[in-house]
Amino acid sequence: MITIALPKGRLMDETIDILKGVGIEVEIPSSRRLFFFDKSNRYRFLIVRAQDVATYVEYSAADLGIVGKDVLEETKSDVFELLDLGIGYCKMVVAGKEPECLNKKTSTVKVATKFVNIAKKHFLKKGMNAEIIKLYGSIELAPLLGIADCIVDIVSTGTTLKENGLSVIENIFESTAILVSNKISYYTKNVQIKEFLNLIK
Ligand code: PRP
Repeated sequence: MITIALPKGRLMDETIDILKGVGIEVEIPSSRRLFFFDKSNRYRFLIVRAQDVATYVEYSAADLGIVGKDVLEETKSDVFELLDLGIGYCKMVVAGKEPECLNKKTSTVKVATKFVNIAKKHFLKKGMNAEIIKLYGSIELAPLLGIADCIVDIVSTGTTLKENGLSVIENIFESTAILVSNKISYYTKNVQIKEFLNLIK
């Protein structure tokens, strides 16, 4: 049996569709149970926070996981990237009320984000001083309430930015979901992993 960590939230439905599409019969538990098996009992699935998928895989709690490139880039987890699943497309961007919010030649730009490492790296590369303000959600509120000049966040449909009067100032990278593997499992369970990989390719 192989254990696969699945991300809660925006990627879950698309992931389940892929599994069902290749004949793996799964049903997400309606209760608070955080793991389940497919009908054939060949796969065990863990339901975890999207940000934690790669951590569960890296520390061998799961053999495989489905995780956004955005999260992988932020956590830099030590896992093998096996396949780009092409689902969960989004963009990592800098957004703000107007492009001038980055024109801080003499002082530090305040950046609100869930993606602290990505934001640090981006502004370092631009040679700008940035004070990173870590938030866990509703990031778009930060520039509106004046606690940050801009945000670094993912944009999917663009609705959240639009409805909060913000727009994209810079694109950082594009993200889709990746199938990742634990480095030891990749060798010890190679047959089962390859089998799963061939199924969903
Ligand atoms: C994410 C992201 C944006 C929003 C973008 O938040 O942080 O707020 O989705 O999606 P859109 O472009 O389709 O509007 P999420 O839904 O994960 O909620 P959160 O703010 O609680 O983190």
